[in-house]
Amino acid sequence: MPPAEVSVALELDDIQSGALRPRPSPYVGVFILLRIDDRRAGRELIRRLIPALTDATNPADPSHQAWVSAALTFQGLKALGVPQDSLDSFSLPFRQGMVARAAELGDIGESGPENWEKPFGTEDVHVALSALSPDAERLELVLARARKGYEELPGVSVIWHLDCHALPTEKEAFGFKDGISHPAVEGSGIPGSNPLEQPLKAGEFLMGYPNEMEELPPMPRPEVLGKNGTYIVFRKLHQRVAAFRQYLKANSSSPEAEELLGAKIMGRWQSGAPLALCPMRDDPELGADPKRNNVFLFKDDDPKGFITPPGSHIRRMNPRDADISGFARIHRMIRRGSSYGPMLPPGVLEDDGAERGLAFVFVGASLERQFEFVQSDWVNKGRFFHGPVIDKDPIVGANDGSGSFTIPQQPIRRRLQGLPAFVVTRGGEYFFAPGLRALRWLADLET
Ligand code: HEM
Repeated sequence: MPPAEVSVALELDDIQSGALRPRPSPYVGVFILLRIDDRRAGRELIRRLIPALTDATNPADPSHQAWVSAALTFQGLKALGVPQDSLDSFSLPFRQGMVARAAELGDIGESGPENWEKPFGTEDVHVALSALSPDAERLELVLARARKGYEELPGVSVIWHLDCHALPTEKEAFGFKDGISHPAVEGSGIPGSNPLEQPLKAGEFLMGYPNEMEELPPMPRPEVLGKNGTYIVFRKLHQRVAAFRQYLKANSSSPEAEELLGAKIMGRWQSGAPLALCPMRDDPELGADPKRNNVFLFKDDDPKGFITPPGSHIRRMNPRDADISGFARIHRMIRRGSSYGPMLPPGVLEDDGAERGLAFVFVGASLERQFEFVQSDWVNKGRFFHGPVIDKDPIVGANDGSGSFTIPQQPIRRRLQGLPAFVVTRGGEYFFAPGLRALRWLADLET
């Protein structure tokens, strides 16, 4: 029976649109990073940006499909002159910044901060803006409003930007449909994509509301700054598409076997159809149907992972009701991936040197318990399953050519060896996306 929607009064008119609202499909967008060299100019920037930002009311209204969101790093809050006791009230990973957490996150070797694209890994990243829209025209309209915030404002500089998009097929660079699975958030009015999953408490994603433990999540002080805010993780993840295709080919005896191996690695066929609902072959109609393509659990139908391997990307990232050590619901996240760069044409097996990949965005109230736990324990340690699986995530794990991937099957499981890294971190940062009242408070600081 579908779970009942419990009503929690969320202050949707104070919560930023980008935190909760599902993205249109397809879309075009841009991420912009700014540096504040002058405290007063920084406050002026925030003051001018506020009218360009949208709130989270009317989630289903198509006229609300283009928006700009703003978020700040710890260094950005410092640059605005936020008082020390308030700075100290933010969570430790946020205060340290992503670069300090690199080893824990598996950002080593080629993915290490010493190889990151600048300005990532420096103290220059202060403010992030993300703008997106169903088309280039409306993107330009919302961007023009945001530009009024920082153009002709000495003391504030644009230091980086990245154009991104979701294709009409919604496929990411490896060729799989993305943007399918989203949790329902109590009180948001936005349905989740799996009616078999009980909506998550708003406090898992927003400050100032009870979370899954029936507690208020630790919130930055003062309340006006913390309430309705959320942490954001941004990671620019380069995808080695040719290497991925070569690996599938080298480990398969036919094109059909190649397709199946890709599906075992992802947990879904390229169309988005889940193995859980069509184990033997792709079903593009199912993949395209948002009412059906995420309606499944694992515990009763596939406890050992004979259909969807426990080590596949989607089952690791969201084990749903499967038996794991721990409690999957406290490690859920709102995840928004945007593609950047051109697609590698179908069938090409040689790298063309182009930069392409995923601009990964996480939204959640706890960096430690949600993003960092999943990235370190479930992506890179893989020790959470009952059973012998100790592989890293085959898609995004910090593999180095000695990685393995296990496909449970009878009479004996298949264990693939020699897994290289298909994804390389180009950089990233932790942000806090304040509510709109909090942004006004920041603009009015007098320190
Ligand atoms: C370039 C890197 C990545 C690629 C290509 C990728 C691709 C995908 C695809 C195709 C899906 C299935 C579509 C969907 O359910 O919406 C998916 C699901 C998901 N991914 Fe990733 N992903 C990447 C990185 C990450 C990272 C770094 C994390 C978290 C640390 C993550 C967490 C998730 C989660 C939570 C889901 C939903 C699982 C579910 O509920 O079934 N992904 N990813």
